[in-house]
Amino acid sequence: MKKILLSITLSIWLTSSCSTAAKNTNDKIISNDVALATHQIGRQVEIIEKSAIFLNPRTVKDNKIEYIAIDDWTSGFFPGTMWLMYDLTKDIKWKKLAVKYTENLDSIKYLTSHHDVGFIINCSYGNAYKQTHKEAYKSVIIEAAKSLSTRFRPSAGVIQSWDEDRGWQGTKGWMCPVIIDNMMNLELLFKASDLSGDSSFRKMAISHANVTMQNHFRSDFSCYHVVDYDKVKGGVRSKCTAQGYSNESAWARGQAWALYGYSVCYRETKNKKYLDFADKIFNFIFSNKNMPADLIPYWDFNAPNIPNEPRDASAAAIMASALYELSSFERPGYKKIADKIMNSLSSPAYLAIVGTNSNFLLMHSVGSIPHGNEIDVPLNYADYYFLEALTRKINLEKL
Ligand code: GLY
Repeated sequence: MKKILLSITLSIWLTSSCSTAAKNTNDKIISNDVALATHQIGRQVEIIEKSAIFLNPRTVKDNKIEYIAIDDWTSGFFPGTMWLMYDLTKDIKWKKLAVKYTENLDSIKYLTSHHDVGFIINCSYGNAYKQTHKEAYKSVIIEAAKSLSTRFRPSAGVIQSWDEDRGWQGTKGWMCPVIIDNMMNLELLFKASDLSGDSSFRKMAISHANVTMQNHFRSDFSCYHVVDYDKVKGGVRSKCTAQGYSNESAWARGQAWALYGYSVCYRETKNKKYLDFADKIFNFIFSNKNMPADLIPYWDFNAPNIPNEPRDASAAAIMASALYELSSFERPGYKKIADKIMNSLSSPAYLAIVGTNSNFLLMHSVGSIPHGNEIDVPLNYADYYFLEALTRKINLEKL
């Protein structure tokens, strides 16, 4: 009897000291990530403030920080990063910067020349409204949703991503190209309906999500990058890729956008079909034979030279953030996977050392290999979703 009692006591002690050790490691990872972000992004801001003009850092090119114009699809991420820093640190300094950099994007609410008005305004003003409830921010969100909704094509039931006659897209013979990334613009439409009481934005978002579900996915629940629709008669004209390895391949960031997008659709509608769909996308991604053990995907699941292909930390960060949200929808197991991704991203293999990486947080992301653009570089959206994932992780662990 004594022996049994001793072994029970020992096993309780071992379990509790193991879980205390795991908690300590977890807490240390979180505090290191926040400390690094405070330093790196602080330094990024110092350079911008010194310049006395609004600069918006996107990536690094030829060892120099590349700054972008406010109509670039990534312009909302840096202001959004300020809001996430404010959320993580509660330091008012970040709020002041967040307000300033967000309000610099005001005119984007009228942007109708591409679908990314959703990304831009949701990551900047969406976060701003969430943290301040300021009326003026609400009107920007609603105005931006009006702009985005000018791209809705009723016959096809989707929001057109790119103009068919502009830039390199104009050489493709498309009529109404829709990219999987567009799932990320729907959150703005859902928010705009809630804030304005105008349900038409929400209806467009639901139509887009349903038509995308029917046409963008293969039988294994991987997705195409681009689906071109007939905007007069409706229906699909062709399916292909722009940023992936091949038309039939699974571009990693595209799979991440899909996972995140359907998680948002479930959050906003509570329609179980979107949650089931996110599960199927999850299964494709995380049971894929080409997913590396550290869960940071190669840039395309079908890239020809795996394991000698660049990883895409941005895709991993988006996936982690989506999985934290999904884990709160009665899928607690997803949190472990998200934690594993975050542990990898927080390791020296991906997270920059203080003072390096041109003040970005994550190394090793990919913009577009087919365009020869941004290969194995830091990217502002990798950092944004990494910090968003961190805030979601912290909030879940408080519960
Ligand atoms: N939305 C563009 C990209 O993911 O590269």
